[in-house]
Amino acid sequence: MNKVIEKLKQIGVIPLAVFKDEKQAVPVANALSKARIDTLEVTLRTEKGVKAIEEIKKNCPGFLAGAGTVKTVQQAKEVKEAGADYIVTPAYDEIIANWCKENDMPLLPGVTTPYEIQKAVGNGFTTLKFFPAENYGGAKTIKAFAGPFPEVSFMPTGGINTENMGNYLANSNVSMVGGGWICSQALLEKADYEGITNKAKEALQKFLGYEV
Ligand code: 3PG
Repeated sequence: MNKVIEKLKQIGVIPLAVFKDEKQAVPVANALSKARIDTLEVTLRTEKGVKAIEEIKKNCPGFLAGAGTVKTVQQAKEVKEAGADYIVTPAYDEIIANWCKENDMPLLPGVTTPYEIQKAVGNGFTTLKFFPAENYGGAKTIKAFAGPFPEVSFMPTGGINTENMGNYLANSNVSMVGGGWICSQALLEKADYEGITNKAKEALQKFLGYEV
């Protein structure tokens, strides 16, 4: 397995952030590191995303910066240039997937249906993002995927939080969980980095099953 994906699985909880100001990226990464979560998926839903990845890679050694909501090869190229360690796509896109393979870029492709899963597995991807998890049947749906796709492990995202993540973790084919509840817009707007550390700690404790 790719080393970056392996590290993400060890971390277990993958926070996601939508930055309106790239200057928040480093304080957020530091806030997460304090809770021993050394990764963040920075989405490209704002134009600050690429710059935010660049800031993290310049200032936070060892921290894994992911790029999320990547929907084109052009964006994939831009985030690679910015130093991104991995890419997350909302859906399975064969063109982006092939580009990632050719460019040694770890990819967590998004899937919701057996059709997409089969496509992704056929192209060699076995760690997949299940999105939007709560809308598409949640933990029950992931459990059903274990029959036909025993080789796949999932990172559910979409409506996950510290309260409901246990439902997902009960499935042996869930290796990590992701989402925006740790670096929420409310906390970002208040620049409440301590609040982010606390939420991150709470989530990690739930994932690990013991206090950190
Ligand atoms: C994603 O792209 O993974 C989702 O937007 C995360 O969903 P959430 O914001 O409900 O956690």
